[in-house]
Amino acid sequence: MSESLTTVAYLGATILFILSLGGLSNPETARRGNLYGMIGMAIAVFATVFGTHVTTAGIPWIIGAMVVGGAIGLYAARTVQMTQMPELVALMHSLVGLAATLVGYASYVDPAASASFSGAEKAIHEVEIYVGVLIGAVTFSGSIIAFGKLSGRIGGKPLLLPGRHFLNLAALLIVIYFGRQFLHAETVGAGMTPLIVMTVIALLFGIHMVMAIGGADMPVVVSMLNSYSGWAAAATGFMLSNDLLIVTGALVGSSGAILSYIMCRAMNRNFISVIAGGFGTEGGKPAPAGGAAQPAGEVSPVTAAETSELLREAKNVIIVPGYGMAVAQAQHTVYEITKFLREKGVNVRFGIHPVAGRMPGHMNVLLAEAKVPYDIVQEMDELNDDFGDTDVAMVIGANDIVNPAAQEDPSSPIAGMPVLEVWKAKTSIVMKRSMASGYAGVDNPLFYKENNRMLFGDAKKMLDEVLVSLKAA
Ligand code: TAP
Repeated sequence: MSESLTTVAYLGATILFILSLGGLSNPETARRGNLYGMIGMAIAVFATVFGTHVTTAGIPWIIGAMVVGGAIGLYAARTVQMTQMPELVALMHSLVGLAATLVGYASYVDPAASASFSGAEKAIHEVEIYVGVLIGAVTFSGSIIAFGKLSGRIGGKPLLLPGRHFLNLAALLIVIYFGRQFLHAETVGAGMTPLIVMTVIALLFGIHMVMAIGGADMPVVVSMLNSYSGWAAAATGFMLSNDLLIVTGALVGSSGAILSYIMCRAMNRNFISVIAGGFGTEGGKPAPAGGAAQPAGEVSPVTAAETSELLREAKNVIIVPGYGMAVAQAQHTVYEITKFLREKGVNVRFGIHPVAGRMPGHMNVLLAEAKVPYDIVQEMDELNDDFGDTDVAMVIGANDIVNPAAQEDPSSPIAGMPVLEVWKAKTSIVMKRSMASGYAGVDNPLFYKENNRMLFGDAKKMLDEVLVSLKAA
């Protein structure tokens, strides 16, 4: 494949990636967006493998690696549960970081690369390597810790080392000092020591940064590491002089940064402190480990039959789905109930919190899968003022996102996080299995409010019962 044809293919892939991102911004166009992304990636891989930078002898190696990687990816995609997606994504980010780090080392020791650069070009190439390895190593270790936290292998409690900010500053200064040593190294052998020292510090920094983050702030970490992995890929593109990788990395990096910003706003966190890392622990006691807050008060349990009665008598209903709906896979029954009520003239809407579930857009994906019409699925800001005119707010497996402590208790770990104000409805019904706390590990005063009812049980099972009694009446 000639150089100019490769350039044209890269341009086409870039356009497809941009269209893909545009498509993914709306549930109605998301499928098309995915398709654009897949075609773009296929073109990118094809143009790279058969481009001028790969020798014929290298092709079998690449194809072999693709078969192994593709098989692992296919297996993971088929077996992973929807609820495990965030941790899978975190693991994927770690691979991007690892790749950037390894490419950095390979570029540095590659005799052909060092021979082809001299003077200012050589210095630029070495800066690319140093920065690429730095971002890659932080992304790698940070993502591994995020994977551990999201999958419950590491506790959600933030690790707060004494003088934590000082340690980070010291790490930064050491990295700058060794960067200077690296650039002034006469030989590859001499440059190796500063590069290795910096890599170790970057790995420790990634671990420290994510370990210091409280459980409730993990959504921001996922999108932030997504952004870091994009910048790591862009750095790899610079090291390999691959324009498409630079553009794609920048697209992922910037869209991840925008998503982080949106998530920060949704959780009332400061964007700058997120970018600096080690955030989410100020202004509140850390969440208790294991998510076992102590219940405080009396609750009013209801049965599925009583719930269906409340729903039948309602004119306006808002359903608030959360992580528990995903666990129970209750979305299809939710839609059956919605359809039934709408046919009876009840105005049913869904209220979606930006961090409901365990990944951005989690609830939207589940509801789209169950074919819930998009026009009744609304963002928190669109309907939060409407709870006062709502007869029944039905909370399905959600907890933190409907916790009034965020507004009422300044010492709460989730203080200041915007929440869906379901308690303002005439009646709120919370569907969950027990009094256990949610992801942030804090008690929820909603459960004890006078107008709140608890429907205890697995969300799918309870909703099936509600549907049966709705139809029976
Ligand atoms: P949570 O606060 O985690 O609450 C989910 C509730 O679902 C739990 O209290 C649990 O109570 C219940 N549940 C679990 N399985 C159930 C089942 N089979 N049937 C019925 N209920 C079930 O979820 P949320 O309200 O969606 O809030 C999301 C939380 O996750 C926030 O703290 C957010 O910061 C965090 N987070 C979000 C993301 C993103 S990007 N969305 C990523 C990481 C973390 P029982 O055990 O009593 O049933």
